[in-house]
Amino acid sequence: MATFQDWARETASFMEKTLADLLPAADTVPTRLHDAMRYSTLGGGKRVRPMLAFAAGEVSGASVDRLKVVASAVEMIHAYSLIHDDLPCMDDDVLRRGRPTCHIEFDEATALLAGDALHSMAFNIVSAHSLTEKSSDQLDLIRLFSEACGSRGMAGGQAIDLASVDRAISLPELEHMHTLKTGALIRAAVMMGAMCGRPLSEIERQKLDHYAKCIGLAFQVVDDILDCESNTEKLGKTAGKDKDANKPTYVSLLGLNPAKQFAEELLRDAHQSLDVFGMSAKRLHELADFIVKRDY
Ligand code: IPE
Ligand code: IPE
Ligand code: MG
Ligand code: MG
Ligand code: MG
Repeated sequence: MATFQDWARETASFMEKTLADLLPAADTVPTRLHDAMRYSTLGGGKRVRPMLAFAAGEVSGASVDRLKVVASAVEMIHAYSLIHDDLPCMDDDVLRRGRPTCHIEFDEATALLAGDALHSMAFNIVSAHSLTEKSSDQLDLIRLFSEACGSRGMAGGQAIDLASVDRAISLPELEHMHTLKTGALIRAAVMMGAMCGRPLSEIERQKLDHYAKCIGLAFQVVDDILDCESNTEKLGKTAGKDKDANKPTYVSLLGLNPAKQFAEELLRDAHQSLDVFGMSAKRLHELADFIVKRDY
C-alpha cells in the first residue's frame, strides 16, 4: 500500500486534473470570470477536503467516479469560501496560497462573482452525476451539502466570525463558530464521501460523524495556532492576521499550549471513533494526524 505522502500527492494531482477538466475553460465567455474561477481553484491548496472524501469512500467501498464528483464539489465550495473570506468586507487579505488573492489579481466584483459561480457549480455537479444507488439517497446527500454551506453551516460561521471581532466571546461560542465556519464543510466532505458507497449501519454513521466533527473543529484550532506561530512564507497567507484584526481564536481564549492540547484531545477522540472500521479507515486515521500535526 502507498505511503500517506505518496497517496496524498497522487490524490492532489488527480484533483488538480479533475477540477481543471470540470471548470469552464478560461477562453470561454465570460473569460474574466472563468479565469478568476480557475485562478482560485487550481494550482494550490492542500486539498484536505477532497482527500477526506476519498478516504471516507474507502470505508464504504465507494467508486472513484462518484468520489471525484463529491470531492470536486466540496473543493469548489471551499475555494468560493476563501475568495469571499479574503474580500475587504471580510478579512481583507491580499495573499492566498502564496499568490495575490482573487480580488487583488482581478477586482472585487469579479471575486464576488467567481465565488457565486463556484457555489452554483458545486451544486450543479452533485446533481448532474449519479452518486448513489437510490435517488432519494442522493437527495439526502445534496441536502446535507446545502446545510453545510448555508446559514447553519459555513456561511453562518462566517457571520458569527465577523460579529465577534473586538468582542470577548465564551469558549462554547468560539467552538460553535469554528464548528460552523470550518467544521461543517469538512464534515460534509467525510459524510458525502461515505454516502457514495454501501449504506452504513446507524452505529457506523454515528462514529464517522463524530470523527468528522472532531477533525473539523481540530482543523480550525490548528489554523488559529498556525496564524500565531507560523510565518507568511510557509502558510502562503499573511501570518498574525487574527491578532491584528482582534479576532477571538483558540489561542486568544486559551493560550498557545492549551490550544495545542485541545487539538491533541480532539485527535485522540477522532482516532477512537474509527475503531469500528478497522483497516478500511487507514487513510482517515492518517488524515486526522496530518490535520493536527501539519505546519502549513
Ligand atoms: C483555510 O483552509 C481556511 C480554513 C477553513 C481554515 P485550508 O488550510 O484547507 O486552505 P488550503 O485549501 O490548503 O489553501
Ligand atoms: C476561514 O477561516 C473559514 C472559511 C473560509 C470558511 P479563516 O479566516 O481563519 O481562514 P484563513 O486563515 O483566512 O485561511
Ligand atoms: Mg475569516
Ligand atoms: Mg481569513
Ligand atoms: Mg485563519
